[in-house]
Amino acid sequence: MKRYVKYVKPYWKSFVLCPVLMLTEVLGEVLLPAFMADIINIGAVRHDIPYIMGMGIVMLVTALVMMAGGIGGAYFAARAAIGFAGDLRSDVFQKVQSFSFRNIDAFSTGSLVTRLTNDITQVQNVILIGLKLLLRAPGMLMGAVIMAFIMNPSLALILLIVIPALALAIGMVIKVAFPRFEIMQKKIDALNSRIQEALTNVRIIKSFVRGSFEEEKFAASNEDLKQSGLRAFRVVILNMPIMMLAMNVTTLAVVWTGGRQVLAGTMPIGDLTAFTTYIVQVLMSLMILAMVLLQSSRAVASLRRITEVLDTEVDLTDAYSARKDAVITKGTVEFRNVSFSYYKDNAEKVLSDISFKIEAGETVGIIGSTGCGKTSLVQLIPRLYDTDSGGVYIDGINVKDYSLRHLRDSVGMVLQKNVLFSGSIAENLRWGDESADQDTMEAAASAAQAAGFISSFPEGYETNLSQGGVNVSGGQKQRLCIARALLKRPKILILDDSTSAVDTATEAEIRKSFSGSLRETTKIIIAQRITSVMEADHIIVMEEGRISGMGSHEEMLAQCATYREIYESQMEKEAIA
Ligand code: CTP
Ligand code: MG
Repeated sequence: MKRYVKYVKPYWKSFVLCPVLMLTEVLGEVLLPAFMADIINIGAVRHDIPYIMGMGIVMLVTALVMMAGGIGGAYFAARAAIGFAGDLRSDVFQKVQSFSFRNIDAFSTGSLVTRLTNDITQVQNVILIGLKLLLRAPGMLMGAVIMAFIMNPSLALILLIVIPALALAIGMVIKVAFPRFEIMQKKIDALNSRIQEALTNVRIIKSFVRGSFEEEKFAASNEDLKQSGLRAFRVVILNMPIMMLAMNVTTLAVVWTGGRQVLAGTMPIGDLTAFTTYIVQVLMSLMILAMVLLQSSRAVASLRRITEVLDTEVDLTDAYSARKDAVITKGTVEFRNVSFSYYKDNAEKVLSDISFKIEAGETVGIIGSTGCGKTSLVQLIPRLYDTDSGGVYIDGINVKDYSLRHLRDSVGMVLQKNVLFSGSIAENLRWGDESADQDTMEAAASAAQAAGFISSFPEGYETNLSQGGVNVSGGQKQRLCIARALLKRPKILILDDSTSAVDTATEAEIRKSFSGSLRETTKIIIAQRITSVMEADHIIVMEEGRISGMGSHEEMLAQCATYREIYESQMEKEAIA
């Protein structure tokens, strides 16, 4: 809870002013029935028209003061709630940005989206309502109870039975409803994940004609949410009938006993109307309190989910080491007895006992069947994940000892699943280097064999890419991603299957330009085709998370049976084609 104080601080005036202003409404609500009683008791009974007029004006002024207080209160409530939620949202977002891949895997994107939107809105709503009613509802309750006792103590005794009975009923409703709201929030999570997956992958879904399948999955999640929502609200709606029943029974009791007192002449007629109003106010304020409590209980569940995000320990941060200022100058890469798995408690390793060394400026190809751990291996170099045991060293220094920023700036990586962002081609390429001028950018594009097709677009580098880069072809997109990585002028360049959609002739051109312009850069190239890596200085063959051989093409052909098999099968295919 303490951590949320800082979100109140900038708006503390609103947090205080709102409840105070709302007290004017309480004052009015308590006074108006009393004025009314006077009008009846004195004005109407004695036919005193000027008195009635005078009291009428007093009532009007009271109502106007109430209105002003109400408007002011609502204004400050909005300021406080919206300000609080806005600041909180931006902090949660920042926290999520600092998450490691592993952290994000643990939450799921859909759940993070729900927490950033729905959960924070929930909290905002409660602040909005809660601030307005913080003093008002209890004030109204107390005021009405006091006035009722002043007016007619014996009649007011009825309240002593009604209030505890009602409080008990409301308490029970909340107790049952609370866990149901928690379940409901989880269902919203599930639905959001579903929606997010379906929308991001709408093209794939359509191409596999899986639309109706997805609709069914969505319908199931939606139905699930609907049912859990109904289950929660079924309890909540009980509130209203219980209240109405209590109200009617009490009013009846008051009119019954009060009526007899009026007939006996022990109670003025005007007091009876005022008294019934106070009774209604007491019950109303109880009901409002119940609603606020219920809303708050939902918000508490939401707040807990937000706290979970804020409390998450980012497992991959800059280590506090003495070599923070270490810089990568050459680009040698060494793996020493590296083991790795995606889930900490997983006994089955994705990579086990990997050791090899690459000198600066060398080109290394990595080959192996799908799922053997190629992507996992290279992800350890820019620390997208950390090793379980063993270490990755660049220029002889453990990657954990570099600042993350410097490390990732020095390692250019074209991910296997790559995306471009909405914006122009130039904007996308400048992700690699914000300050790159046109010439540098064109040089990078031409090294990646992208310059040709970019200039064939009517708007050239200003061509707008839609989200994810859907308006360029697969091979064009891959080349843009390579150019983007090249603009970083990295010491180490990693291409994870990044030319799979590029034709072999163009790919050969890219290789040629690399050996010219990237002589100093260490290049690690994952590929499916042996022709992509045949000319590399070393080729690493991977099998089930282990290295089964490393050497030049000729050496591997002579030594490594697996490599020979892959080579022969690919050559055969080529011959047939
Ligand atoms: N894996 C996982 N969790 C992830 C990614 C991968 O558990 N977030 C597992 C996969 O099931 C796979 C193994 O890790 O068995 C290795 O995956 P990866 O390194 O991605 O394999 P690649 O060799 O890159 O496969 P591909 O050629 O298909 O890209
Ligand atoms: Mg891969």
